[in-house]
Amino acid sequence: MFKINDNYLKLQGSYLFATIAKKVAAYQEANPDKTIIRLGIGDVTQPIAPAIIDALHGAVDDMGKPETFHGYAPDLGYEFLRNAIVKGDYESRGANISADEIFVSDGAKSDCSNIQEIFSLDNKIAVCDPVYPVYVDSNVMAGRTGEYNLATEKWSEVIYMPCTMENNFVPEFPKETPDLIYLCYPNNPTGSTLTKTQLQAFVDYANKVGAIILYDAAYEAYISEEDVPHTIYECEGARTCAIEFKSFSKNAGFTGVRLGYTVVPKDLKSGETMLHSLWARRHGTKFNGAPYIIQKAGEAVYSKEGKKQLTEQIAYYMNNAKIIKNGLKEAGYRVSGGVNAPYVWLKTPENMTSWEFFDYLLDKANVVGTPGSGFGPSGEGYFRLTGFGTYENTVKAIERIKNIKK
Ligand SMILES: Cc1ncc(COP(=O)(O)O)c(C=O)c1O
Repeated sequence: MFKINDNYLKLQGSYLFATIAKKVAAYQEANPDKTIIRLGIGDVTQPIAPAIIDALHGAVDDMGKPETFHGYAPDLGYEFLRNAIVKGDYESRGANISADEIFVSDGAKSDCSNIQEIFSLDNKIAVCDPVYPVYVDSNVMAGRTGEYNLATEKWSEVIYMPCTMENNFVPEFPKETPDLIYLCYPNNPTGSTLTKTQLQAFVDYANKVGAIILYDAAYEAYISEEDVPHTIYECEGARTCAIEFKSFSKNAGFTGVRLGYTVVPKDLKSGETMLHSLWARRHGTKFNGAPYIIQKAGEAVYSKEGKKQLTEQIAYYMNNAKIIKNGLKEAGYRVSGGVNAPYVWLKTPENMTSWEFFDYLLDKANVVGTPGSGFGPSGEGYFRLTGFGTYENTVKAIERIKNIKK
Protein backbone atom coordinates (compact mmCIF):
# COMPACT_ATOMS: atom_id res chain seq x y z
CA MET A 1 0.00 0.00 0.00
CA PHE A 2 1.50 3.32 -0.97
CA LYS A 3 2.09 6.05 1.53
CA ILE A 4 2.29 9.74 0.83
CA ASN A 5 5.00 12.13 1.94
CA ASP A 6 3.02 13.41 4.87
CA ASN A 7 5.31 16.38 5.31
CA TYR A 8 3.07 17.88 2.63
CA LEU A 9 0.17 17.71 5.05
CA LYS A 10 2.07 19.96 7.43
CA LEU A 11 2.24 22.76 4.86
CA GLN A 12 0.23 25.76 5.90
CA GLY A 13 -2.30 26.77 3.25
CA SER A 14 -1.07 29.31 0.78
CA TYR A 15 -3.84 31.61 1.94
CA LEU A 16 -2.20 34.87 1.08
CA PHE A 17 -2.80 35.40 -2.63
CA ALA A 18 -5.90 33.17 -2.69
CA THR A 19 -7.47 35.23 0.11
CA ILE A 20 -6.54 38.47 -1.62
CA ALA A 21 -8.14 37.27 -4.86
CA LYS A 22 -11.29 36.21 -3.01
CA LYS A 23 -11.63 39.49 -1.12
CA VAL A 24 -11.04 41.55 -4.26
CA ALA A 25 -13.58 39.52 -6.25
CA ALA A 26 -16.19 39.91 -3.48
CA TYR A 27 -15.57 43.66 -3.27
CA GLN A 28 -15.81 44.06 -7.04
CA GLU A 29 -19.08 42.13 -7.14
CA ALA A 30 -20.57 44.30 -4.42
CA ASN A 31 -19.20 47.48 -6.06
CA PRO A 32 -19.34 46.92 -9.84
CA ASP A 33 -18.82 50.63 -10.57
CA LYS A 34 -15.43 50.84 -8.77
CA THR A 35 -12.14 50.49 -10.66
CA ILE A 36 -9.71 48.54 -8.56
CA ILE A 37 -5.96 49.14 -8.94
CA ARG A 38 -3.62 46.29 -8.06
CA LEU A 39 -0.30 47.29 -6.55
CA GLY A 40 0.15 44.01 -4.72
CA ILE A 41 1.63 42.03 -7.53
CA GLY A 42 5.21 40.78 -7.74
CA ASP A 43 4.85 40.16 -11.47
CA VAL A 44 6.18 42.55 -14.08
CA THR A 45 3.87 44.41 -16.48
CA GLN A 46 6.18 45.83 -19.17
CA PRO A 47 6.73 43.87 -22.41
CA ILE A 48 10.00 42.10 -23.20
CA ALA A 49 12.60 44.59 -24.51
CA PRO A 50 13.08 44.77 -28.32
CA ALA A 51 16.71 43.54 -28.27
CA ILE A 52 15.53 40.40 -26.49
CA ILE A 53 12.58 39.91 -28.82
CA ASP A 54 15.02 40.09 -31.77
CA ALA A 55 17.20 37.41 -30.16
CA LEU A 56 14.14 35.24 -29.57
CA HIS A 57 13.09 35.54 -33.23
CA GLY A 58 16.61 34.71 -34.38
CA ALA A 59 16.75 31.66 -32.14
CA VAL A 60 13.36 30.44 -33.34
CA ASP A 61 14.65 30.63 -36.92
CA ASP A 62 17.77 28.68 -35.87
CA MET A 63 15.52 25.86 -34.68
CA GLY A 64 13.94 25.59 -38.13
CA LYS A 65 17.19 24.90 -39.99
CA PRO A 66 19.10 21.62 -39.81
CA GLU A 67 22.49 23.34 -39.48
CA THR A 68 21.45 25.50 -36.51
CA PHE A 69 18.87 23.26 -34.83
CA HIS A 70 19.49 22.63 -31.10
CA GLY A 71 18.22 19.67 -29.08
CA TYR A 72 18.92 19.06 -25.40
CA ALA A 73 21.02 21.84 -23.91
CA PRO A 74 24.27 21.04 -22.04
CA ASP A 75 23.69 20.24 -18.34
CA LEU A 76 25.13 23.50 -17.02
CA GLY A 77 23.64 25.63 -19.82
CA TYR A 78 25.11 26.92 -23.06
CA GLU A 79 28.59 28.36 -22.81
CA PHE A 80 27.57 31.51 -24.69
CA LEU A 81 25.18 32.35 -21.86
CA ARG A 82 27.42 31.29 -18.97
CA ASN A 83 30.28 33.37 -20.41
CA ALA A 84 27.98 36.38 -20.78
CA ILE A 85 26.85 35.92 -17.16
CA VAL A 86 30.42 35.72 -15.84
CA LYS A 87 31.41 38.82 -17.75
CA GLY A 88 28.26 40.85 -17.06
CA ASP A 89 27.46 39.87 -13.47
CA TYR A 90 30.78 38.86 -11.87
CA GLU A 91 33.93 40.11 -13.64
CA SER A 92 32.39 43.56 -13.83
CA ARG A 93 31.96 43.50 -10.02
CA GLY A 94 35.46 42.20 -9.33
CA ALA A 95 33.99 38.86 -8.25
CA ASN A 96 35.91 35.70 -9.05
CA ILE A 97 33.40 33.23 -10.51
CA SER A 98 34.08 30.97 -13.48
CA ALA A 99 31.66 29.80 -16.16
CA ASP A 100 31.74 26.20 -14.95
CA GLU A 101 30.43 27.33 -11.55
CA ILE A 102 27.23 28.62 -13.16
CA PHE A 103 24.19 26.35 -13.54
CA VAL A 104 21.58 27.75 -15.91
CA SER A 105 18.00 26.90 -14.94
CA ASP A 106 14.37 27.81 -15.54
CA GLY A 107 14.31 30.39 -12.75
CA ALA A 108 15.26 31.15 -9.19
CA LYS A 109 12.15 29.69 -7.57
CA SER A 110 12.95 26.14 -8.58
CA ASP A 111 16.61 26.45 -7.64
CA CYS A 112 16.12 28.08 -4.26
CA SER A 113 13.50 25.50 -3.35
CA ASN A 114 15.47 22.51 -4.71
CA ILE A 115 18.88 23.39 -3.28
CA GLN A 116 17.99 21.99 0.15
CA GLU A 117 18.01 18.47 -1.37
CA ILE A 118 21.81 18.35 -1.36
CA PHE A 119 21.93 18.99 2.41
CA SER A 120 21.26 16.58 5.26
CA LEU A 121 17.84 16.59 6.88
CA ASP A 122 19.63 17.34 10.18
CA ASN A 123 20.58 20.80 9.00
CA LYS A 124 18.85 23.64 10.72
CA ILE A 125 17.73 26.52 8.54
CA ALA A 126 17.58 30.20 9.46
CA VAL A 127 15.31 32.61 7.61
CA CYS A 128 14.50 36.28 7.84
CA ASP A 129 11.03 37.08 9.16
CA PRO A 130 9.16 38.26 7.06
CA VAL A 131 10.38 36.06 4.21
CA TYR A 132 9.71 34.87 0.64
CA PRO A 133 7.68 31.76 1.61
CA VAL A 134 9.40 29.34 -0.80
CA TYR A 135 12.48 28.86 1.40
CA VAL A 136 10.45 27.61 4.36
CA ASP A 137 7.86 25.60 2.41
CA SER A 138 10.49 23.66 0.46
CA ASN A 139 12.07 22.64 3.76
CA VAL A 140 8.66 21.71 5.18
CA MET A 141 8.16 19.35 2.22
CA ALA A 142 11.54 17.78 2.93
CA GLY A 143 10.70 17.28 6.62
CA ARG A 144 13.31 19.64 8.04
CA THR A 145 11.17 22.14 9.91
CA GLY A 146 9.54 20.26 12.82
CA GLU A 147 6.02 21.14 13.90
CA TYR A 148 4.02 24.28 13.16
CA ASN A 149 2.73 26.30 16.08
CA LEU A 150 -0.50 28.01 15.08
CA ALA A 151 -0.27 30.52 17.91
CA THR A 152 3.25 31.75 17.17
CA GLU A 153 2.98 31.01 13.42
CA LYS A 154 6.44 29.46 13.60
CA TRP A 155 8.03 26.08 12.89
CA SER A 156 9.73 24.44 15.86
CA GLU A 157 12.94 23.62 13.95
CA VAL A 158 13.34 26.87 12.02
CA ILE A 159 15.45 29.73 13.29
CA TYR A 160 13.76 33.08 12.64
CA MET A 161 15.67 36.32 12.25
CA PRO A 162 13.13 39.13 12.73
CA CYS A 163 13.50 42.11 10.39
CA THR A 164 11.43 45.04 11.60
CA MET A 165 11.57 48.80 11.82
CA GLU A 166 13.34 48.39 15.18
CA ASN A 167 16.44 46.82 13.59
CA ASN A 168 16.07 48.73 10.34
CA PHE A 169 15.13 45.43 8.64
CA VAL A 170 18.67 44.07 9.10
CA PRO A 171 18.72 40.58 10.62
CA GLU A 172 20.88 39.91 13.66
CA PHE A 173 22.93 36.74 13.97
CA PRO A 174 20.65 34.19 15.60
CA LYS A 175 21.28 32.95 19.14
CA GLU A 176 21.16 29.36 17.96
CA THR A 177 23.72 28.46 15.30
CA PRO A 178 22.14 27.59 11.93
CA ASP A 179 23.57 25.33 9.23
CA LEU A 180 21.83 26.95 6.27
CA ILE A 181 21.05 30.66 6.19
CA TYR A 182 18.64 32.00 3.58
CA LEU A 183 19.23 35.64 2.72
CA CYS A 184 17.47 37.63 0.01
CA TYR A 185 18.83 41.05 -0.96
CA PRO A 186 17.45 43.37 -2.17
CA ASN A 187 14.68 41.94 -0.05
CA ASN A 188 11.25 40.70 -0.93
CA PRO A 189 8.99 41.76 0.80
CA THR A 190 10.61 44.61 2.79
CA GLY A 191 12.56 46.23 -0.06
CA SER A 192 15.55 46.59 2.28
CA THR A 193 19.20 45.90 1.50
CA LEU A 194 22.43 45.09 3.30
CA THR A 195 25.48 47.26 2.90
CA LYS A 196 28.73 45.63 1.85
CA THR A 197 29.93 45.72 5.47
CA GLN A 198 26.72 44.11 6.74
CA LEU A 199 26.85 41.34 4.14
CA GLN A 200 30.56 40.81 4.80
CA ALA A 201 29.69 40.28 8.48
CA PHE A 202 27.26 37.51 7.47
CA VAL A 203 29.92 35.91 5.26
CA ASP A 204 32.46 36.03 8.12
CA TYR A 205 29.86 34.60 10.51
CA ALA A 206 28.98 31.74 8.11
CA ASN A 207 32.64 30.86 7.58
CA LYS A 208 33.21 30.93 11.35
CA VAL A 209 30.31 28.65 12.29
CA GLY A 210 30.52 26.43 9.18
CA ALA A 211 27.17 27.47 7.72
CA ILE A 212 26.16 27.92 4.09
CA ILE A 213 24.45 31.13 2.98
CA LEU A 214 21.79 30.59 0.33
CA TYR A 215 21.75 34.04 -1.23
CA ASP A 216 18.79 35.04 -3.40
CA ALA A 217 19.74 38.03 -5.54
CA ALA A 218 16.61 38.01 -7.73
CA TYR A 219 16.24 41.81 -7.39
CA GLU A 220 19.90 42.72 -7.88
CA ALA A 221 19.16 44.84 -10.96
CA TYR A 222 17.20 47.32 -8.82
CA ILE A 223 20.18 48.36 -6.71
CA SER A 224 20.84 52.07 -7.08
CA GLU A 225 23.04 52.89 -4.08
CA GLU A 226 26.83 52.62 -4.19
CA ASP A 227 27.41 50.74 -0.98
CA VAL A 228 25.06 47.84 -1.74
CA PRO A 229 26.73 44.68 -3.07
CA HIS A 230 25.36 43.29 -6.35
CA THR A 231 26.57 39.78 -5.62
CA ILE A 232 27.61 38.08 -2.40
CA TYR A 233 30.90 37.20 -4.11
CA GLU A 234 31.95 40.83 -3.76
CA CYS A 235 32.55 39.81 -0.13
CA GLU A 236 35.80 38.22 0.86
CA GLY A 237 35.44 34.56 1.77
CA ALA A 238 32.03 34.10 0.09
CA ARG A 239 33.43 31.39 -2.19
CA THR A 240 33.72 29.08 0.83
CA CYS A 241 30.26 29.70 2.29
CA ALA A 242 27.76 30.97 -0.29
CA ILE A 243 25.52 29.76 -3.08
CA GLU A 244 23.87 32.52 -5.12
CA PHE A 245 20.56 32.44 -7.03
CA LYS A 246 19.76 34.81 -9.87
CA SER A 247 16.66 35.27 -11.95
CA PHE A 248 15.93 36.90 -15.30
CA SER A 249 12.34 37.53 -14.17
CA LYS A 250 12.64 40.94 -12.59
CA ASN A 251 15.60 42.44 -14.47
CA ALA A 252 14.37 41.45 -17.94
CA GLY A 253 10.68 40.60 -17.58
CA PHE A 254 11.17 36.83 -18.01
CA THR A 255 8.44 35.84 -15.52
CA GLY A 256 6.59 34.11 -18.37
CA VAL A 257 9.71 33.20 -20.33
CA ARG A 258 11.58 31.42 -17.49
CA LEU A 259 15.34 31.65 -17.01
CA GLY A 260 17.65 31.84 -14.02
CA TYR A 261 20.96 30.52 -12.77
CA THR A 262 22.66 29.33 -9.62
CA VAL A 263 26.31 29.80 -8.71
CA VAL A 264 27.98 26.99 -6.76
CA PRO A 265 31.67 27.80 -6.27
CA LYS A 266 34.05 24.84 -6.32
CA ASP A 267 35.53 25.99 -2.99
CA LEU A 268 32.33 24.98 -1.17
CA LYS A 269 33.15 21.69 0.47
CA SER A 270 31.96 19.30 3.13
CA GLY A 271 35.15 17.35 3.91
CA GLU A 272 36.42 16.36 0.48
CA THR A 273 33.00 16.57 -1.20
CA MET A 274 32.32 19.57 -3.39
CA LEU A 275 28.78 20.92 -3.21
CA HIS A 276 29.32 21.69 -6.90
CA SER A 277 29.49 17.95 -7.67
CA LEU A 278 26.29 17.27 -5.74
CA TRP A 279 24.38 20.08 -7.44
CA ALA A 280 25.77 19.03 -10.85
CA ARG A 281 24.48 15.52 -10.20
CA ARG A 282 21.11 16.78 -9.05
CA HIS A 283 20.78 19.22 -11.94
CA GLY A 284 21.79 16.58 -14.51
CA THR A 285 19.39 14.01 -13.08
CA LYS A 286 16.31 16.10 -12.44
CA PHE A 287 16.49 18.95 -14.97
CA ASN A 288 16.89 18.75 -18.72
CA GLY A 289 18.00 22.27 -19.48
CA ALA A 290 16.48 25.64 -20.24
CA PRO A 291 15.49 25.89 -23.93
CA TYR A 292 18.07 27.10 -26.46
CA ILE A 293 15.66 29.83 -27.57
CA ILE A 294 15.38 31.18 -24.05
CA GLN A 295 19.09 30.98 -23.36
CA LYS A 296 19.68 33.03 -26.54
CA ALA A 297 17.19 35.56 -25.16
CA GLY A 298 19.16 35.53 -21.90
CA GLU A 299 22.38 36.25 -23.79
CA ALA A 300 20.75 39.35 -25.30
CA VAL A 301 20.15 40.68 -21.77
CA TYR A 302 23.90 41.29 -21.62
CA SER A 303 24.20 42.89 -25.09
CA LYS A 304 24.82 46.62 -25.33
CA GLU A 305 21.35 47.33 -26.67
CA GLY A 306 19.72 44.89 -24.24
CA LYS A 307 21.40 46.51 -21.25
CA LYS A 308 20.34 49.96 -22.36
CA GLN A 309 16.70 48.95 -22.83
CA LEU A 310 16.58 47.09 -19.53
CA THR A 311 18.08 50.00 -17.65
CA GLU A 312 15.15 52.06 -18.95
CA GLN A 313 12.66 49.37 -17.94
CA ILE A 314 14.02 49.19 -14.41
CA ALA A 315 14.01 52.98 -14.19
CA TYR A 316 10.31 52.85 -15.13
CA TYR A 317 9.47 50.50 -12.25
CA MET A 318 11.70 52.37 -9.84
CA ASN A 319 10.02 55.63 -10.75
CA ASN A 320 6.74 53.97 -9.77
CA ALA A 321 8.31 52.84 -6.49
CA LYS A 322 9.47 56.41 -5.86
CA ILE A 323 6.00 57.78 -6.54
CA ILE A 324 4.55 55.28 -4.09
CA LYS A 325 7.15 55.96 -1.43
CA ASN A 326 7.01 59.75 -1.65
CA GLY A 327 3.23 59.80 -1.92
CA LEU A 328 2.82 57.61 1.14
CA LYS A 329 5.26 59.75 3.08
CA GLU A 330 3.28 62.86 2.15
CA ALA A 331 0.16 61.11 3.35
CA GLY A 332 1.84 60.54 6.71
CA TYR A 333 2.82 56.88 6.44
CA ARG A 334 6.06 55.40 7.73
CA VAL A 335 7.67 53.73 4.73
CA SER A 336 10.87 51.92 3.80
CA GLY A 337 12.25 50.15 0.73
CA GLY A 338 11.63 51.46 -2.77
CA VAL A 339 15.21 52.70 -3.28
CA ASN A 340 17.13 49.53 -4.19
CA ALA A 341 14.07 47.37 -4.74
CA PRO A 342 10.68 47.67 -6.44
CA TYR A 343 8.96 46.97 -3.10
CA VAL A 344 7.69 49.64 -0.73
CA TRP A 345 7.02 48.43 2.81
CA LEU A 346 4.80 50.51 5.00
CA LYS A 347 3.84 50.45 8.65
CA THR A 348 0.09 50.25 8.99
CA PRO A 349 -1.40 53.29 10.71
CA GLU A 350 -3.10 53.28 14.09
CA ASN A 351 -2.03 49.75 14.95
CA MET A 352 -4.21 48.20 12.27
CA THR A 353 -3.34 44.60 11.49
CA SER A 354 -2.04 43.95 8.00
CA TRP A 355 -5.41 42.49 6.94
CA GLU A 356 -7.37 45.33 8.50
CA PHE A 357 -5.27 47.72 6.46
CA PHE A 358 -5.84 45.61 3.35
CA ASP A 359 -9.63 45.96 3.79
CA TYR A 360 -9.30 49.66 4.60
CA LEU A 361 -7.26 50.40 1.47
CA LEU A 362 -9.53 48.32 -0.74
CA ASP A 363 -12.62 50.02 0.61
CA LYS A 364 -11.39 53.62 0.84
CA ALA A 365 -9.08 53.81 -2.18
CA ASN A 366 -9.93 50.69 -4.22
CA VAL A 367 -6.23 49.82 -4.12
CA VAL A 368 -4.95 46.29 -3.57
CA GLY A 369 -1.67 45.57 -1.79
CA THR A 370 -0.20 42.61 0.08
CA PRO A 371 -0.60 42.18 3.85
CA GLY A 372 2.83 41.88 5.50
CA SER A 373 1.61 39.17 7.88
CA GLY A 374 1.39 36.83 4.89
CA PHE A 375 5.19 36.75 4.82
CA GLY A 376 5.69 35.76 8.46
CA PRO A 377 4.74 36.81 11.98
CA SER A 378 7.13 39.79 12.03
CA GLY A 379 5.36 41.12 8.94
CA GLU A 380 2.24 41.77 11.04
CA GLY A 381 1.44 45.46 11.07
CA TYR A 382 3.18 46.04 7.73
CA PHE A 383 1.97 46.16 4.13
CA ARG A 384 3.66 45.77 0.73
CA LEU A 385 3.04 47.84 -2.38
CA THR A 386 5.01 47.28 -5.57
CA GLY A 387 6.35 49.41 -8.39
CA PHE A 388 5.50 46.74 -10.95
CA GLY A 389 2.22 48.34 -12.03
CA THR A 390 1.86 50.81 -14.88
CA TYR A 391 2.87 54.44 -14.31
CA GLU A 392 -0.70 55.66 -14.86
CA ASN A 393 -2.21 53.25 -12.35
CA THR A 394 0.52 53.96 -9.82
CA VAL A 395 -0.11 57.71 -9.96
CA LYS A 396 -3.86 57.17 -9.73
CA ALA A 397 -3.55 54.78 -6.80
CA ILE A 398 -1.35 57.11 -4.80
CA GLU A 399 -3.64 60.07 -5.44
CA ARG A 400 -6.52 57.99 -4.13
CA ILE A 401 -4.57 56.98 -1.02
CA LYS A 402 -3.61 60.59 -0.35
CA ASN A 403 -7.25 61.63 -0.69
CA ILE A 404 -8.63 59.17 1.85
CA LYS A 405 -10.61 61.17 4.36
CA LYS A 406 -9.43 60.31 7.83
C1 LIG B 1 12.86 36.62 -3.64
C2 LIG B 1 12.42 35.91 -4.87
N1 LIG B 1 13.16 34.91 -5.34
C3 LIG B 1 12.80 34.23 -6.44
C4 LIG B 1 11.66 34.55 -7.13
C5 LIG B 1 11.24 33.76 -8.32
O1 LIG B 1 12.03 34.01 -9.41
P1 LIG B 1 11.81 33.23 -10.77
O2 LIG B 1 10.74 33.90 -11.52
O3 LIG B 1 13.16 33.30 -11.44
O4 LIG B 1 11.48 31.80 -10.45
C6 LIG B 1 10.86 35.61 -6.68
C7 LIG B 1 9.62 35.94 -7.39
O5 LIG B 1 8.79 36.70 -7.02
C8 LIG B 1 11.25 36.30 -5.52
O6 LIG B 1 10.51 37.30 -5.03
